[in-house]
Amino acid sequence: MSKVTVVGAGNVGATCANVLVTNQMADEVVLLDIKEGVSEGKAMDIMQTANILGTNTRLVGVTNDYKKTANSDVVVITSGIPRKPGMTREELIGTNANIMKNVVDNVIKYSPRAIFVIVANPMDALTYLAFKHAGVPRSRVIGMGGALDSSRFKCYLAKATGANINNVDGMVIGGHGDTTMIPLLSKATVNGVPVTQFASKKKLQEAVQATMVGGATLTKLIGTSAWYAPGAAAAMMVEAILNDQKKMIPCSCYLEGEYGQDDICIGVPAIIGRKGIEKIVKIDFTKEEAAKFAESAAAVRKTNEVLREIKAL
Ligand code: NAI
Ligand code: 2OP
Repeated sequence: MSKVTVVGAGNVGATCANVLVTNQMADEVVLLDIKEGVSEGKAMDIMQTANILGTNTRLVGVTNDYKKTANSDVVVITSGIPRKPGMTREELIGTNANIMKNVVDNVIKYSPRAIFVIVANPMDALTYLAFKHAGVPRSRVIGMGGALDSSRFKCYLAKATGANINNVDGMVIGGHGDTTMIPLLSKATVNGVPVTQFASKKKLQEAVQATMVGGATLTKLIGTSAWYAPGAAAAMMVEAILNDQKKMIPCSCYLEGEYGQDDICIGVPAIIGRKGIEKIVKIDFTKEEAAKFAESAAAVRKTNEVLREIKAL
């Protein structure tokens, strides 16, 4: 029996629960929110798709009742305010840090062995906060950012190269921020063949730039931040954990010397399985990528400093 809790029944949380249920990625899903009735209503709506779509996963919606989340294997935390047009992810920190600490305390009380998937922004800093606050091994706190950014990257690369999107491979590492993420063009391929064979340098650079502002582009268009791909990316990580898939997923991990960084959560490729982060994968950088990673880490550290300034840490 596998059990997943999704905290926050807003756009991303409800979408994540929907993907988990539709694809039968868990036996039981609990959707929790502080807004009275919202989780219950959304869970009811999603469960009314079960017969149409042929799924057998049970979904329960609850208002702030953590008893119902007891013994969850994985807990996805999406609770927090999203970006409005023109806002950076970093501007959300004060509100979302307080929510994160409160949620982590409640989760740990009822699910002491759970693996956390952190989604709320600014994600790298909040993953760091969740890890420090929870006091669990680093393998059990994973930030979701790279999975989404990589999927956006692959989408833009497919457009640039004209390739079938399912043949495109590529990773985005570093911080989950418009200026901190690093789409690794040097490693991107179409079925193992470097993307440079299929598109001009200019077109590929445009794909990199579009990826980096991918979240902001959507926020401008929709008026709030995106949810379909974020919800699906979080569900994909949950599935990798529950089914011990040993998938390599770029995600925010607490580093202890890897990539020359210590005491920071930032996006790196990791093997995700039943124990959470099972291995951090070391890849060779070009000189330029190494410099960008160091810059990205410095920017993420600045946001971590804000957590100290506001006494969240
Ligand atoms: P939303 O506003 O639609 O949903 C947030 C939900 O959290 C609301 O329903 C709210 O009632 C709930 N909430 C607030 N405080 C809570 C608490 N203490 N306990 C339980 N629930 C609580 O926002 P949306 O669009 O779902 O985004 C959620 C977060 O995810 C934002 O911080 C956003 O920036 C972030 N995000 C992160 C992404 C990533 O790649 N890491 C991608 C997309 C969004
Ligand atoms: C996104 O990338 C805002 O983190 C959110 O869509």
